[in-house]
Amino acid sequence: MKIQQAYRLPMGFIFAAFLNFTVGAILGGTMAADPALSYRLAPIHAILNPYGWLTLLIYGMTFAVLALSLGVQLPVSSQGWAQLVVAEAGVVLLVIGNLIQSTWPSRTGVVLLVLAPMLFLYNILSGVRYTKRLSRSQESGIKDVLTQLPTSAEAAIQLFGRVPAYRKTDAVGQRGTDVSLMLFIIATVWTAIWNWNDPKGSGLIYSQGLEWLTFYGWIGGTTLSVALHLAPRFLRRPADPAGWWSVLQVGWFGGVLLSVVGSWIGVPWERAGSIVTGIALVGSALGFLWLAVVRRSHSRTGEEASVAASSTVLNSNTSTRGLHGPGIAAWIIGWLFALVLGYELVTYGDPFALSSIHLLFLGFITSLVYAVGYTAFPIILGRRPPHTSLAYVQLICSEIGAMLLIGSFMRIEAGHATSLMLMSGGVLATVGVLMFLALWGLRQPSSRVK
Ligand code: HEM
Ligand code: HEM
Repeated sequence: MKIQQAYRLPMGFIFAAFLNFTVGAILGGTMAADPALSYRLAPIHAILNPYGWLTLLIYGMTFAVLALSLGVQLPVSSQGWAQLVVAEAGVVLLVIGNLIQSTWPSRTGVVLLVLAPMLFLYNILSGVRYTKRLSRSQESGIKDVLTQLPTSAEAAIQLFGRVPAYRKTDAVGQRGTDVSLMLFIIATVWTAIWNWNDPKGSGLIYSQGLEWLTFYGWIGGTTLSVALHLAPRFLRRPADPAGWWSVLQVGWFGGVLLSVVGSWIGVPWERAGSIVTGIALVGSALGFLWLAVVRRSHSRTGEEASVAASSTVLNSNTSTRGLHGPGIAAWIIGWLFALVLGYELVTYGDPFALSSIHLLFLGFITSLVYAVGYTAFPIILGRRPPHTSLAYVQLICSEIGAMLLIGSFMRIEAGHATSLMLMSGGVLATVGVLMFLALWGLRQPSSRVK
């Protein structure tokens, strides 16, 4: 069975993503401790984190979900590895171009940056098409494959698989990932053209519109869409009504596009776009928080029971517990950071101030990654942290670090000096990242997908 193969490719992406994040976070911590180094390190940090960390993680999560739960296989596995090599080489070349102040690595890097999401789109489309053909020719071949899987893979299906009761919100989520990817492809072409004549390989230069497309359109848009796939599965209840999420999604992407156009034609339009994006973020954060809190305050309802009955029937030993413990704590903290960012966007905050960028990437998205990690890694990696209390220590360290770092950026932007707060925030957030990685190394083996 191809499951072992299907499992390796996403793990390759996720491993590379964490490697990039480790280096990116250490650079961030170093800058927080000694801001004088920022002029050298900030451009590298700003390449490694959005492109090397979050973009590669999205690629890896997508392949993991499509393969492990829907049985999607690539016709040729090397096409997935080619995408990984292209994406990582793009990041590495951009960093080298910056380090040695040379044009050719940067030019090659931006070309690879354009190629990677195009290959990703091609891989998804060809994988979905190939798997549909395969299942038609083998008469429910996917079902056969799924029933032969070991129990831990059944747990992956339970966590990520198709559930009729989630179909409507899944359709909204899938539309969101599709739109985000289109925006990213446009953004990378634009980045390549914009950076082509940058004479000294000074790192990526962004325009305001490009940042809207890449940071909020691609990374933020994918995160909100993926959260809509994950929330019902992690919380064991449908996230209805789907119409609510559709309106918020139109608000989010509409606000981003308005801001992009506004960045060309005038500031008032960009302000309007920022406000619409912020309102959509506040609405989404409140919706996800409500789902998490209501789920915890109710015992299993009739609706939940029918959802569970309509999902894959599982051996009770392998059923997943969904979000719990440090996972639910990280999930709630992530959405609280999103609320603060939404408030900033609505109330005239600069969407690209250091405080906003780190509210988005570190406070909001990285906290959600920790939540997904604590919930899904035991199944995907077949490992658990050695002790739950260590996971809480990791989370407290990371979240206090993020709060101090973001708080000190806000104070600096308001004209105050905050060197101790900045340093302690940067160091704690970085130690939090390293602890998260160490927890999966100091694993407690559990059954792994064979
Ligand atoms: C441990 C986590 C992190 C720490 C300690 C950290 C720290 C810092 C610091 C101190 C700066 C200021 C540089 C300056 O003064 O110009 C900075 C800038 C920046 N960071 Fe982070 N950061 C972290 C995570 C992230 C993540 C996850 C992302 C994105 C995915 C990110 C994206 C950026 C960007 C785009 C800049 C602006 C760089 C520039 O102005 O050219 N950071 N970070
Ligand atoms: C930009 C990134 C992504 C793209 C372009 C994408 C695209 C797709 C496509 C084409 C399908 C339909 C597959 C089929 O018909 O068999 C799908 C389904 C799905 N995706 Fe994604 N995906 C992305 C990211 C993710 C991520 C990161 C997750 C979750 C962690 C996810 C969760 C799901 C789920 C649960 C389904 C099944 C929905 C259903 O029942 O139809 N997606 N996605």
